Amino acid sequence: MEPIKVGLLGFGTVGSGTFTVLRRNQEEIKRRAGRGIEITRIAVRNPAKALAALGEAASTVQLGSDFNAVIDDPAIDIVAEMIGGTGIARELVLRAISKGKHVVTANKALLAVHGTEIFAAARTQGVMVAFEAAVAGGIPIIKALREGLTANRIQSIAGIINGTTNYILSEMRERGLDFATALAGAQALGYAEADPTFDIEGVDAAHKLTIMSAIAFGIPMQFDRAYVEGISKLAAIDIKYAEDLGYRIKLLGITRRTERGIELRVHPTLISAKRLLASVEGAMNAVEVHGDAVGTTLYYGKGAGAEPTASAVVADLVDVTRLHTADPGHRVPHLAFQPQSLADTPVLPIDDVTSGYYLRLRVADVTGVLADITRILADAGISIDALLQKEAEQVADNGETDVVIITHDTLEKNVNAAIARIEALSTVVSNVTKLRIEAHG
Ligand code: NDP
Ligand code: HSE
Repeated sequence: MEPIKVGLLGFGTVGSGTFTVLRRNQEEIKRRAGRGIEITRIAVRNPAKALAALGEAASTVQLGSDFNAVIDDPAIDIVAEMIGGTGIARELVLRAISKGKHVVTANKALLAVHGTEIFAAARTQGVMVAFEAAVAGGIPIIKALREGLTANRIQSIAGIINGTTNYILSEMRERGLDFATALAGAQALGYAEADPTFDIEGVDAAHKLTIMSAIAFGIPMQFDRAYVEGISKLAAIDIKYAEDLGYRIKLLGITRRTERGIELRVHPTLISAKRLLASVEGAMNAVEVHGDAVGTTLYYGKGAGAEPTASAVVADLVDVTRLHTADPGHRVPHLAFQPQSLADTPVLPIDDVTSGYYLRLRVADVTGVLADITRILADAGISIDALLQKEAEQVADNGETDVVIITHDTLEKNVNAAIARIEALSTVVSNVTKLRIEAHG
């Protein structure tokens, strides 16, 4: 059988990694897919740069700067969008679909924001949009959620799903690097987004979590409802105090089914140092999924970088090749559930989320200050799990000291109300730093 022909749009970290892996393993991939898979055309903004990167392989492809020409080429069966973002990438993906081409993409921003439109267009045209690489790089988490766990009523997902921020936190903690140096390292290794604020501010993780939540719970993509908080305001002292209390701080994406709705949130999170998730370091990702039948499962691997991501892109190319001739009605639905069976379960606002909390505040080291704070917490029905008061001499030379409180699970709005009262005390000389604790799992 003739090889299936792929048109590649974009030739950066992931595009070039995909080209390399497909070329290197082409014989085995052919044996798996049942026919060859060849990238025959590449379109880029700057062909001279791509030509240099292609080296001797340049003679095997038609390289140019006209993206539409690649999409419109009747010989091209699959369009691999490896550009990123929600601008030109959206236009090109929709154009490819309208021309009856299958699409493979690693673009989580595009799917989290425009997924509903893109999947609807793909259904109309009877084509596939495959996106394994969009979540957790090389970890086949989409396949696991959509197919492997399909028997389960999924209860929750908690994951380290951004390699850049996990790398930064690891480098700061293990090697004492400052934030900017650690970020530069992640950028040099090809982990970061074109705009790294997407990584640092938790937006990239929220894109991925939105996709997983939709697949897990059969709800539409609702990126705009996600609570998103990154690591830019995280203080080194909180990493240190958390360690003293037996926790690690990770940027975690959490989505959970509750009686009142779906939690969908990304924020720096304390997790017990004993949990497997706590030992996930560098650009590694890990996703913990809890299903009613299977219990807890954990997926671990490289979450970013050229070849780990290419591993997922090529797997999608093989999937699409295998299913190319199948009746569209018999393919796995894009979001696991049949499109007409999506639920309207609400996504909970962060105020209505239940969690444990880490609270740090600076106080004047005077009699009664702790009693005042604990009384306010008790009045709000908040139960204390642990309390740490540093010796004043270890913290400052003006008689002030730090108090760190760990609470049991409670409603976010109750904690916020208590914090407002605590900050109004004359003996409390700082704002209260609040971090959430993930005690489930
Ligand atoms: P890169 O920046 O390395 O490459 C992007 C490619 O697209 C480059 O060829 C770039 O051209 C081109 N490009 C960018 N903007 C435009 C534009 N406006 N018009 C035309 N061409 C453009 O990105 P990555 O390879 O890292 O990322 C690609 C996609 O994969 C993104 O959606 C990203 O989120 C996703 N992803 C990335 C991972 C990673 O580890 N890097 C992991 C998983 C997913 P030029 O070289 O001229 O800038
Ligand atoms: N910027 C992303 C990360 C790439 O750091 O995880 C992988 O999606």
